[in-house]
Amino acid sequence: MLIAQLSDLHIKAGRRKAYGVVDTAAHLETAIAHLLSQPVPPDAVVLTGDLVDHGSREDYGLLRQLLKPLLDQSSTLPCYLLAGNHDETNELREAFPEHGYLRSTTALPHYAVTLGGGALRLIGLNTTIPGQSAGQLNAESLTWLNEQLSSDPTPAIIAMHHPPFATGISHMDEIGLANREAFEALTLSHSHVKRIICGHLHRAIETLFGGVIASSCPSTAHQVVLDLRAGAPDQFIMEPPGYQLHRWDGVRFLTHTVVVGKFNGPYRFRNTRGLID
Ligand SMILES: [Fe+2]
Ligand SMILES: [Fe+2]
Repeated sequence: MLIAQLSDLHIKAGRRKAYGVVDTAAHLETAIAHLLSQPVPPDAVVLTGDLVDHGSREDYGLLRQLLKPLLDQSSTLPCYLLAGNHDETNELREAFPEHGYLRSTTALPHYAVTLGGGALRLIGLNTTIPGQSAGQLNAESLTWLNEQLSSDPTPAIIAMHHPPFATGISHMDEIGLANREAFEALTLSHSHVKRIICGHLHRAIETLFGGVIASSCPSTAHQVVLDLRAGAPDQFIMEPPGYQLHRWDGVRFLTHTVVVGKFNGPYRFRNTRGLID
């Protein structure tokens, strides 16, 4: 089964450019068209937060329009939304009333859904703190997660906005996830957690965390500058945008990072006489 991950869309009402520079609406349209033209279509799509830039009703109105090519296929291609620090949970819920999983009984809308006819469980963890850029998994969230994992042994993939690891990009680490040690201990204690996928970092980054690969996905629009100096300035760069495809074969996950853009090719390696010289 193939799970597509789109992240950090940062949509602004009126198609206004993010930071006055980035046409995030056009980038999302391009990313969705690219995803839907994949030779093997995904079985589900997960959007890991910062769906919009300022959390307004109007932002979500445009997001809904832009996601229409995906939402129109929801009977065969379910689409799961997750809030990031730029989102407003209540506005998100109201803009997507048919997404009932956003209305869980927990104070934060964590959710657990099954994919692929029950072969896999997707657990969406809401790591946001209202009004703050940093994230957390508080005691209530970890209790909820432990209950979910203890009550169902189905292999699980956890999606969350704030990654539970430091990156060396100092300004992003300053707005990282609190309480990650407790989360790591919890993940280690449940061997049916097979993968952790995140957003927030606007770059593809991977590490081992709690016994599984944890990673962040590129943004569909702008990327965070790779600068590992202490105190590096917080800057973004228009490196090629992208998304990820997480392939579950029943035993392990494998991730393809997809670069979105116009590139020469494809070219053939071989002609009728063999490898082209
Ligand atoms: Fe973001
Ligand atoms: Fe973020």
